[in-house]
Amino acid sequence: MPIHIRPFQASDLLARERIFKDAFSAGLRPHIYPNGTTDADLIHNFGENIKGLATKMSASDTQAGQRFFVAYDTETSAPTSDLEFPETWDKKNEVELKGKDREEAKRIVGIAFWQLQPSPRTQEEIDKEAAEGQSHAHAPSANGPLLDAFGKALTAGREKWIGLDAYLYLKVLAIDPKYQRRGVGSLLLDEGLAVANRVGIKAYLEATEAGRPLYQRKGFVDRELVDFDVARYAPAAKGERHGFMCMVRPAPEGGKKAQGSAEEGEGHGGNEAVVEKGE
Ligand SMILES: CC(C)(COP(=O)(O)OP(=O)(O)OC[C@H]1O[C@@H](n2cnc3c(N)ncnc32)[C@H](O)[C@@H]1OP(=O)(O)O)[C@@H](O)C(=O)NCCC(=O)NCCS
Repeated sequence: MPIHIRPFQASDLLARERIFKDAFSAGLRPHIYPNGTTDADLIHNFGENIKGLATKMSASDTQAGQRFFVAYDTETSAPTSDLEFPETWDKKNEVELKGKDREEAKRIVGIAFWQLQPSPRTQEEIDKEAAEGQSHAHAPSANGPLLDAFGKALTAGREKWIGLDAYLYLKVLAIDPKYQRRGVGSLLLDEGLAVANRVGIKAYLEATEAGRPLYQRKGFVDRELVDFDVARYAPAAKGERHGFMCMVRPAPEGGKKAQGSAEEGEGHGGNEAVVEKGE
């Protein structure tokens, strides 16, 4: 199972859907899409993601923005579900894998989405960003009130535990269930945490119970357990608990220096990560 890491790209959008669906099947996802996703939902979500890829990415350690990585299995082909975009999507031809690339497509086995803010911010900048986030439209059949309330709970935690500081934020880490507990999550975490080490900043995330022990081993410390009352927005969730733990990994002492097991050095030039891990 040799695993490589590379930047996320538009042709990975279906793999992203597959992994989120499978990895978060015991989480909020079934309540966000109680009847599953339609093509209209996918097309909406793809559009938002493509906009983000075009305008919100961070290309260097000094530029604020998103850093998205995927881990893939160099020995296993992508399932067809990763390759067949809805016929009606007007960007289909731009992003789908074609010809040789398509034949060589590998199975995506994990996804890590990070947000880098390499310098401290003012309260005004934070407020402006929050206001922009609120105008975000949801997929047609998604449970909008649930997404809004959950987003608000996450934002409140970030405001409390990051404050005005520079940070690296792990927005999502999801591993294909068939590949969990084989070190893929750890590999993707190391890739991101190397950025936090190089820049000399704290890292932050909201942990599920499944992820918490791994994050603790990587130097994250529990700060606050936030309970989210999902049944208020999705009655079918009555009796389920969907809390998350706000966790902080302090900035390396003395600024930019080695911490934990994350890979150091100039690294991989922005998003150009390549890491290999054998069985
Ligand atoms: C939580 C999650 C991201 C972890 O990813 P992962 O790839 O399974 O993580 P790793 O394999 O690196 O580590 C997980 C555990 O497997 C162990 N492990 C790693 N390689 C192993 C191997 N070859 N054999 C046996 N165990 C192994 C690790 O020691 C770790 O143990 P711990 O949980 O007791 O600390 C993944 O399970 C997942 O996607 N879960 C569902 C979605 C989710 O909750 N995401 C987190 C949101 S914050």
